[in-house]
Amino acid sequence: MKGSGVYELRELKLDKYNLKINETLFHNANGYIGIRYDFEEGYEKRYSREDQFVPSQYINGFYEYLEINQAEKLYGLVEEKQIMLNIANTQSIKIFLDGEEFSMFSGTILAGRLCLDMERGITVRNVAWRSPKGKEVYIAITRMASFHQLSLFTIEYEVLPQNFSGDILIESSHNGNVLNYADPEDPRISDEVIHCLKPLSCQIKDEVTYITSRTSKSDLEVCTCVKNVLCQGHQKEFIIDNNNATCRFHTTAKQGKKIRLIKYAVFCDSIRNENCRSKAELEMARALSVPLEYLYERQEEYLADYWNNCGIEIEGDEELNSAMRFNLYQLIQSVGKDRYCNVAPKGLSGDGYEGHYFWDSEMYIQPFFTITKPDISRNLIEYRYRTLDMARENARVLGHKSGALYPWRTIMGRECSGYFPSGSAQYHINGDIAYSIIAYFLATKDIGFIQEKGAEIVFETARIWTDVGNFHEGKFYINDVSGPDEYTCIVNNNYYTNVLAQYHLNWAVKIYDLIKTTESFNRLVQKINLKKDEIEGFKRAAEFMYLPYDEGLKINPQDDSFLQKKRWDIKDIPKENFPLLMHYHPLHLYRHQISKQPDTIMAHFILEDAQSEETMLNSFNYYEKITTHCSSLSPCIFSIMAARLGMEDKAFAYFENTVRLDLLDKQKNTIDGLHIANMSGSYMAIVYGFGGFRLKERGVFFAPILPRLWTAYKFKIRIEDSRIMVRVRKEECVFTLESGSPKIIFVYGKKYLLEKKLIISRT
Ligand code: BGC
Repeated sequence: MKGSGVYELRELKLDKYNLKINETLFHNANGYIGIRYDFEEGYEKRYSREDQFVPSQYINGFYEYLEINQAEKLYGLVEEKQIMLNIANTQSIKIFLDGEEFSMFSGTILAGRLCLDMERGITVRNVAWRSPKGKEVYIAITRMASFHQLSLFTIEYEVLPQNFSGDILIESSHNGNVLNYADPEDPRISDEVIHCLKPLSCQIKDEVTYITSRTSKSDLEVCTCVKNVLCQGHQKEFIIDNNNATCRFHTTAKQGKKIRLIKYAVFCDSIRNENCRSKAELEMARALSVPLEYLYERQEEYLADYWNNCGIEIEGDEELNSAMRFNLYQLIQSVGKDRYCNVAPKGLSGDGYEGHYFWDSEMYIQPFFTITKPDISRNLIEYRYRTLDMARENARVLGHKSGALYPWRTIMGRECSGYFPSGSAQYHINGDIAYSIIAYFLATKDIGFIQEKGAEIVFETARIWTDVGNFHEGKFYINDVSGPDEYTCIVNNNYYTNVLAQYHLNWAVKIYDLIKTTESFNRLVQKINLKKDEIEGFKRAAEFMYLPYDEGLKINPQDDSFLQKKRWDIKDIPKENFPLLMHYHPLHLYRHQISKQPDTIMAHFILEDAQSEETMLNSFNYYEKITTHCSSLSPCIFSIMAARLGMEDKAFAYFENTVRLDLLDKQKNTIDGLHIANMSGSYMAIVYGFGGFRLKERGVFFAPILPRLWTAYKFKIRIEDSRIMVRVRKEECVFTLESGSPKIIFVYGKKYLLEKKLIISRT
């Protein structure tokens, strides 16, 4: 890993494990499409489909329905889920040199390099290859998922004959006969290899091949089209059947003269377009109307702006600095850019978790975008708004007469969790979504958006709290829900849920007051039939919300029964039994004081003002001992809270553990896709952790610390119209107003007006 924005491998290992890891790490995506890094020429036979190597490319938000086989048909259990689909394969390119086929698995690789260039937004494979009969070529392949034109994926394929001249045959294919990847052994990915997409037509028009396919149950259509441009004299033929289109070029190679093929692939779907076939035609014409170099320039421009607004720099540890850059690059590749989609835990790098969206979006990924690129957060909220009606339906299924309950995992808006104790029971998703809307408002003061859409979500989701909970002896209780810790399910008064519900309800009241005099307010009140006494109800439930507290331990118990359970010393658990969910029955896990991920600690992070320092410190020490970190969402939150509570070295150790999770394949499942929430979590560990950043109603707060091994670090925050750069060094922290109007900021608890530059001593 270099610091220059390039991540490269100079030795390409061609075993199954490394091939699959590289498919993930070097994938190309732009938030709409994602293409795993499959070799264009394919793999060796033994690594082919039957061995579950499936070339993969996805469209964010594009899905098929699949039955969930519930053994017992209890009322309301989910019987159908959505899965993200593998779309037509546009990657395949085969080259034959005088009849000898190029393959990384034959002949000799004289030199090989795989490189992800995060400034230019491309991946490049360079191979110097000697064929079994001694022909030497130099091959350079550049791939790009365009940020400028989201429907577009390009492959630029260059072949330079080194020691021969002769015939070259190029076969570039477009294949609509695709399967979805599966692993029956792993509950986190789909368990059957499925063939969901049925090709409707395969056509050719003006040398562009079009494959239109349809899903059978969700009734969605996708059209991919491909155009191959070979930049030298050739003969060309097309071979087409119902599912496949291959373009064959016959040309001659001259020693020392480069051959260049550009393959344009466009993806269009019927969720976003009325007629995806004609839209594909337009999008292809758009791509072809400019030189490829122009598209490369736009890509670089987009990313220059991204790094300028969102980048982080660590001085004194180049390796971690580069790892952070890798993580932030993956965030912009993964996050949806329109209201039809969101961001999946694996982004668009693999189909782990079947492409479902979870709370990861609101609690891990949005905290990055809200303060750097708020338009993206707004889109993510728009997606939730688009699916609000389905959240209403979901609430009815769960027995709530009014309000909306968002699904725990979903693509198009309906619940997909087959196992409700650690799925639908996670009612906190409602609070998480409201929390992210409030954070968006605090960062942008975009009251127009709140009036138009945000308030409706906040009110509708708040209604669920007053229905799911109830008063008992003067206190408001929420029973039988699950908190974030998926090793402890269906509990009473989960601290995280209750304290978040309290915040949510209080904000519902505030938003009501903020917008009650506007015209759109009356429309909204009528639309959702919101009564003044409901708002009173929100106020009362928040005021009397029961927050569990243990006098003896002086901590917030995770829930009412958590502290009564058996302890289970993590040291006693054999290493090979992690993650525990793969080795122990859920009930066994539920009966122990063992946590998969932060629950109460997460609550202390997001709502620190709800408890005293002492309680948060005690809680940290208590839960740290019983948290297994079986979820990749875990260590970053412990890092943030360790920093918050003055345990700098510990904060750093957790951060180090989190930041290279995928680059080092720490969880042994990077082959199924990246861990996007963890990547955003590593950002949070710097900004919210070491930087002590908090976004509150009273303003923005910083309390920077500097990890011992670093010389300095810097990051930028966007608050309303202003961009603030923060640089933390040993002696001081410097706040620079890069653009926008002066802002009030709090540093180490003291209030300052940031006009141009503010230097605050740390000694
Ligand atoms: C975690 C959830 C998370 C999901 C997707 C699970 O392992 O427990 O909190 O939402 O993964 O990342």
